[in-house]
Amino acid sequence: MVPVYGARWGTRGRLLSRKFLFLGPPAAGKGTQAALIASELGIAHISTGDMLRDQVARRTELGRTIETMLAAGELVPDDLVVSLLPDRLAREDAVPGFVLDGFPRTQSQAVSLETLLGEDGLDRVVALVVPEEEIVRRITGRRSCAEGHVYHVSGLPPKVAGVCDIDGLSLFQRSDDTEDVVRNRLAVYLASTAPLMERYSAILVKVDGIGSVEDIKARILAVV
Ligand code: AP5
Repeated sequence: MVPVYGARWGTRGRLLSRKFLFLGPPAAGKGTQAALIASELGIAHISTGDMLRDQVARRTELGRTIETMLAAGELVPDDLVVSLLPDRLAREDAVPGFVLDGFPRTQSQAVSLETLLGEDGLDRVVALVVPEEEIVRRITGRRSCAEGHVYHVSGLPPKVAGVCDIDGLSLFQRSDDTEDVVRNRLAVYLASTAPLMERYSAILVKVDGIGSVEDIKARILAVV
């Protein structure tokens, strides 16, 4: 049996994939934690926000269609987001499992995910709980690089201001990270995405998203 870090083996040597979904309002820390947990468990971090921003940055046809939706904090139509998933889930890094970050965001996307995953559904849904005033503080201070590495100007600053520690790329503020747009993103989250908690109630764990990044990571590792 080939050792795979973070993977679990079932009976008869079958590799069991580990599939998690991180839910939560904008800037709850989903991306920060999904990257850490995925790295710790040796599984893929799949962020539809990053995938959509990559389409915009590369000026693809999809990117040009969705650019204004992202900037306004509106959801991209379900069929467009869902179309990105099959290829991403089929990549080798997702074989031992994955953390979904930002997908599904609507009931219709949840149905599509169930179809994609078949009988092996999600193992656990982690909902990060963060109050609104902290969300606004985190969003307005967030800086990201083009590869999706995330910092906060005061809470999680890079070693050199404006430069990503990991790849040396310049850091920028996302077009949807203004206070006005975040209010809209929050409203969209409450109307379309928060109701998914009911759908996943049997496998849902709420985790306090306030505290140090390391403390929150430990809380999540204790429940996944
Ligand atoms: P997406 O990128 O998924 O945005 P989001 O869900 O609003 O989440 P964020 O990326 O804003 O925040 P996060 O929870 O990942 O927090 P982070 O770790 O960065 O989606 C963007 C847009 O794409 C959507 O609005 C929509 O238009 C479109 N889209 C994406 N998926 C879609 C879908 N499925 N369907 C339709 N449309 C879709 O942390 C935030 C900040 O806080 C950072 O600065 C970080 O350093 C800091 N921070 C993190 N943890 C802590 C901590 N413990 N203490 C203090 N600061 C912290």
